[in-house]
Amino acid sequence: MCGIVGYIGTKEAKPILLGGLKRLEYRGYDSAGIAVIDQAMSQVKSIGKISSLEKKMANQEFPGSLGIAHTRWATHGQPSDINAHPHIDCQGIIALVHNGIIENYQSLRQLLMQEGHEFVSETDTEVLVHLIEKHYEGNNLEQAVQRALLQSQGAYGIVVVSSSEPNKLVAARNGSPLVLGIKKGEYFVASDVAALLPYTRQVIYLNDGEMVTMDRDGYKVTNLFNQKIDKEIEKIKWDLAMIEKGGFPHFMLKEIYEQPQAISNTLSGRVKGGQNIVHLRSLDGDIIKKLPHINSIKILACGTSWHAGLVAAFLMEKVLRIPVTCEQASEFRYRSPVIQPGTLAISISQSGETADTKGAVELVKELGAYNLGIVNVVGSTIARLVDGGVYLHAGPEIGVASTKAFSCQVTALSILNLGLSKILDRSQPLPSGKPRVPDIDFKKIVDELLILPEKVEQVLKGVYDIKSKRGIVHKIAEELQDKNNFLYLGRGYNYPIALEGALKLKEISYIHAEGYSAAEMKHGPIALIDKEMPVVIIAPSDSEEPISYDKIASNAEVVRARGGRIIAIVNEGDKIISNMAEWVIEIPNTLAHLVPILATIPLQLLAYEIAVLRGNDPDMPRNLAKSVTVE
Ligand code: AGP
Repeated sequence: MCGIVGYIGTKEAKPILLGGLKRLEYRGYDSAGIAVIDQAMSQVKSIGKISSLEKKMANQEFPGSLGIAHTRWATHGQPSDINAHPHIDCQGIIALVHNGIIENYQSLRQLLMQEGHEFVSETDTEVLVHLIEKHYEGNNLEQAVQRALLQSQGAYGIVVVSSSEPNKLVAARNGSPLVLGIKKGEYFVASDVAALLPYTRQVIYLNDGEMVTMDRDGYKVTNLFNQKIDKEIEKIKWDLAMIEKGGFPHFMLKEIYEQPQAISNTLSGRVKGGQNIVHLRSLDGDIIKKLPHINSIKILACGTSWHAGLVAAFLMEKVLRIPVTCEQASEFRYRSPVIQPGTLAISISQSGETADTKGAVELVKELGAYNLGIVNVVGSTIARLVDGGVYLHAGPEIGVASTKAFSCQVTALSILNLGLSKILDRSQPLPSGKPRVPDIDFKKIVDELLILPEKVEQVLKGVYDIKSKRGIVHKIAEELQDKNNFLYLGRGYNYPIALEGALKLKEISYIHAEGYSAAEMKHGPIALIDKEMPVVIIAPSDSEEPISYDKIASNAEVVRARGGRIIAIVNEGDKIISNMAEWVIEIPNTLAHLVPILATIPLQLLAYEIAVLRGNDPDMPRNLAKSVTVE
């Protein structure tokens, strides 16, 4: 989620562009850049926040009333000066900023290099500016942009200027937001309205497949075939604080609702319907030679990321038929672990900066393990420590309580599991002599992954209503907001969800909550149950392990018999456990290892709602930091 600003008008562009970037900084801030056109083009880019860019510009003139600027949230290519936007063509005439992912950038890059284009960055974005340059001969800027975009696949929100046409700004959108600011004699483009507020409240929202050509006398919206589109001018009613949160009261709620899009971003370009391969660059090339002999996997993480790792450990051991364990990095790194040759270490970290996870990765590197990382922040410390990995592309996660990162971690690990199942040598029989499991139903898993965003959307709509506040989660939160203890129970893939649901409640409502294996209840915790103890039971019917539903049903029976107040997370149409529960939250069916994503959403919302009812700020809970960079 990058921040984009463009301006064409009668005023100096520089202050307008920098001011706009600052109001978009929450969208991503690992590097930034600006290009302004007067007679010629002046441009500067800098790693770091907008303030670093301003420092770099301090002694330079930036004349001109046409320009573009960008604050980056890296997806392809480390955060660096050279990878920062704007990107420039070979002749230094065209400048472009981009928000999104160009999926076919590798093939386009090869094609353009064969035609003599020289690339300086590692980004997918730079391909676009050279493609526009290629089509610029014999065409004007908007025609060149149209032709280039018709050759591109993936998501984009772009703004383009050229010093050969200093009275023109072109922008186009497909999948990444772009909004136009309208003011007499001045026109603006931005990735969201926050950048436009100080100048105008008259806006036009571009839709996918639309583009705009602006000059100082007006603008024209068309599709990529130059067919004119009439657009309505709307008036912004929000204030800045609301806009940064997309109209949500807190970043946490915004990020809970971003999960369908975030999961789509994680899936983008990596799995395709009907294909029984996954596209993971970290499993290409020489890693292939190292991985087949992997004979065990060690997953390392903390907090919510550790919960995602527990889900993956269960899945990977079941599918890959090698020992897989998931360790709390903080404990692992100090217990003199033994790492056998042939160990693959998978570290999971949203921030990529968690000190304990970083320490554990450094240790397993020394001990000879091969390292993959599941990280959200591109170019973060852990991302640079590992040998390869899978970026989440979930966008910045601002709320301290991790939500969309968790869903994307489980999604990424499911994709990685598919990839590993193709590489690891599973032909050898198990030590017991038994054959390894038959080939997995790749197509079914890929199809389920591809409809996961839709099912997440369905859960969100089914359990919570932001405006009316009449959803089932509101009812439960109002009734139980003053309780002092909660118990969360789950089995198998959903034991980690019991832990995750409890962690969410603890960290933002400050209510003591414990996640427990439902099977372990009879070994002591059952003594806790009484009518003052709300018990959340995650109990989807598990088509892959039907026995576990029956067992958790008997666990639920034990809880009910002792007066526990049950909140049951069940599949649609459940008839058994839902009859024992005081509140029933239904989720759609999916594969057992993807249920954790759907089951966690009501628990995220329950924790959020109770925290708000108790007067807490869910975005900044006491005693906590978003990234625990200390031990
Ligand atoms: C989860 O809601 C917490 N914010 C915390 O447990 C977090 O998951 C943990 O600190 C790990 O962070 P990381 O994913 O950035 O490494």
